[in-house]
Amino acid sequence: MPDTSGVLRQRLQAAFDTIAPDADPVLRPSERADFQSNGALALAKRVGRLPRQVADEVVDAASLDDLCASVEVSGQGFINLTLSEEFIADQLAAMGADERLGVDVVPAPQTMVIDYSSPNVAKEMHVGHLRTTVLGDALARILGFLGHAVLRENHIGDWGTPFGMLIERLIDVGGAADAESFSVRDLNAFYAEARQHFDSDPAFGERCRRRVVLLQGGDAETLRLWRIFVAESLRHIDEVYGMLGVLLTDEDVVGESFYNPWLPVVVDELAARGLLVEDDGAQCVFPDGFTNRQGDPLPLIVRKSDGGYGYPATDLACVRDRTGRRGATTLLYVVGAEQALHLRMVFAVAAMAGYLPETSAAVHVGFGLVLGPDGKKLASRVGGSERLADLLTEAVDRATASIAGRPSDLNAGQRAAVARTLGIGAVKYADLSTERMRDYVFDWDRMLAFEGNTGPYLQYAHARIRSIFRRAEMPPPARGARPSVGEPPERALALQLLEFPAAIAATAESYSPSKLCTYLFDLATTFTTFYEACRVLVDDVAVRTARLALCDLTARTLALGLSLLGMEAPEQM
Ligand code: ARG
Repeated sequence: MPDTSGVLRQRLQAAFDTIAPDADPVLRPSERADFQSNGALALAKRVGRLPRQVADEVVDAASLDDLCASVEVSGQGFINLTLSEEFIADQLAAMGADERLGVDVVPAPQTMVIDYSSPNVAKEMHVGHLRTTVLGDALARILGFLGHAVLRENHIGDWGTPFGMLIERLIDVGGAADAESFSVRDLNAFYAEARQHFDSDPAFGERCRRRVVLLQGGDAETLRLWRIFVAESLRHIDEVYGMLGVLLTDEDVVGESFYNPWLPVVVDELAARGLLVEDDGAQCVFPDGFTNRQGDPLPLIVRKSDGGYGYPATDLACVRDRTGRRGATTLLYVVGAEQALHLRMVFAVAAMAGYLPETSAAVHVGFGLVLGPDGKKLASRVGGSERLADLLTEAVDRATASIAGRPSDLNAGQRAAVARTLGIGAVKYADLSTERMRDYVFDWDRMLAFEGNTGPYLQYAHARIRSIFRRAEMPPPARGARPSVGEPPERALALQLLEFPAAIAATAESYSPSKLCTYLFDLATTFTTFYEACRVLVDDVAVRTARLALCDLTARTLALGLSLLGMEAPEQM
């Protein structure tokens, strides 16, 4: 379905083109009309004429009669466009008839790898994994909905020297003999115990060092033990994913260990291209344009002087695998902003090595920090613990308490489900609604509030609309029923609804789910204004049906929008 501002922009573009090529119509929502086009101002400057003259000429050349009730030039040369009721109602009816609510699949779908979550397996997931997991999951849903082939990849930290220690500890607690029943209640405690033995018992320390060598040498028994430990860690990680309701499964795991066999290949290939420079015993690449404060070139260290490989080598092998084996054309890295330099250098070197052809793009989808009430990084001790699982449990507990006093027709089991939806939704939405590069303060009261730009507000807005149909004891009008747009609040709601495809497009283009959040919040408030001004359940069947069509379309848009963010929208709360 052609989207409303898109159609308008196209028609204007054709008219602007009659004056000069490539002039941007600069179409914006307007206070005075529905839209305004400000493009005549810049174009006039470019062709050395008066803006009003240019605007008049655009209006003469434009074919807008079937879309607009009025087109006027005002001020210095703004073109004010008021859509016709006919056109708005037609567009809305088409949107209503469409399962996808007017959001078309993209004309040129990409194969996109989305790298997100990526915890280190030897530890419990902590607050620091919240943003990447929630943001990455929303992007996977949105980009998949747009028709891209999305490949989720969970680049877990499952390789390296700590595993020598963890495997020896596993042996000592009997996990080697009886892998079936091996379970760790608390990964952090297990790690701490291993660490303590390592620090206090030289014989254990020696075993650990030998074990690392065996692991890196691919010793079969060591790999078997390593797998037992990783599987147990994944069980903990999956529990958190289950609570959060994200799409990630064990099938999506492509951990650091996966790239291990390819690290020497990467080094060889870099060498064959003449890119490697020895610096202080280490093998490095110096990509153009990267210097330190003193202006000296910055190295990406591919192989350390002790012969070991670090993150840069793994990430190069990872780019190579994604564009090669997986055939990805777009590589998204949903990784904290603090890793910006590392990733930029990896991308630069990957391009030099031929791992990132011109036809592909690697994008760092960065994000800011989650802060505590003291304004410092919230690394630990949220509600007495740093574990993400505990944080999510607390969210549900708090949501349970906050709905305890509210009247409801639901039974105890249904209310518990609603509390889960609200609590988890509140945490996810607080994260997603913040522009991703900004830091935000983790604030229980604000995120759980039923007022303001919050998850609970939107979930309630949706359920409240659904309750209108229950009270009216009538089903929603047929999909594609013609809504009424004559009254100003109806018209405002209609125009807001029609912006949905544009909001999705803007979200996808910038990889910023916060844009979709802002849109949904605006939609919910516009609906409230409409609902306060226009009675829906009136006797006049035609008016009632037309207004119910607006209600239904709003509820469907909220539900689809929330689901694309990875949030539930219960029918009843
Ligand atoms: N495991 C890493 C960490 O915890 C994040 C990995 C991000 N992805 C990547 N391809 N580098 O910091």
